[in-house]
Amino acid sequence: IMVYESGITQIETKLDILNKENKIAGRRNSIETVKSRIKTPQSIIEKLEKKGLPISFTSMMENLNDIAGIRVICPYISDIYNIKNMLLKHPDITLIEEKDYIKDPKESGYRSLHLVVEIPVYLSESTHNVKVEIQLRTIAMDFWATLEHELRYKTTTSVPESVRRELKRVAENIAMTDKEMEEIAIELQHLE
Ligand code: GTP
Ligand code: MG
Repeated sequence: IMVYESGITQIETKLDILNKENKIAGRRNSIETVKSRIKTPQSIIEKLEKKGLPISFTSMMENLNDIAGIRVICPYISDIYNIKNMLLKHPDITLIEEKDYIKDPKESGYRSLHLVVEIPVYLSESTHNVKVEIQLRTIAMDFWATLEHELRYKTTTSVPESVRRELKRVAENIAMTDKEMEEIAIELQHLE
């Protein structure tokens, strides 16, 4: 777990440096907030069981991509892809998996860019390549995902089809607003 924590710290540092660089260059921030979490031992075991995988250290390291998770919340959609490109340029980062739920939203309406990257963590006598799941989304996408998650979590019965459709419609409205905000920002940039 310490190794996973170190993997998170390294990526957070890269994001931090990017923010500082933007600040010095007088550019606006491309990151609103960064949140990170480590999966609890209990939920690691539950996930391995659910997937019918062996409960062991090696199995966990090999099969689970989201033990270390970072969520990067950005003002605009373009920021998301800029950050992705910046991170993937770093020679110590290897892209393992990419799921673009912005281009192809989930059936629920969920939107975000998911990356699984691998980064080496150097200890005194060994090197460990750890996987970190990075979820990148806009403030608007985060607003939807957080409330939708909470609603689903709170409901003990399964969410009826009509409600699911409504949530999806709200997600589409939010996506439209995201695009409009970006267009406004671009318009203002041209005036400068
Ligand atoms: P697992 O990682 O095994 O769960 O499956 P997967 O790799 O297919 O999952 P995926 O990468 O698509 O999504 C995993 C994470 O994305 C979840 O833990 C959530 O944080 C988020 N997520 C995915 N779909 C939804 C959704 O419909 N609503 C919300 N609120 N979050 C979602
Ligand atoms: Mg996953």
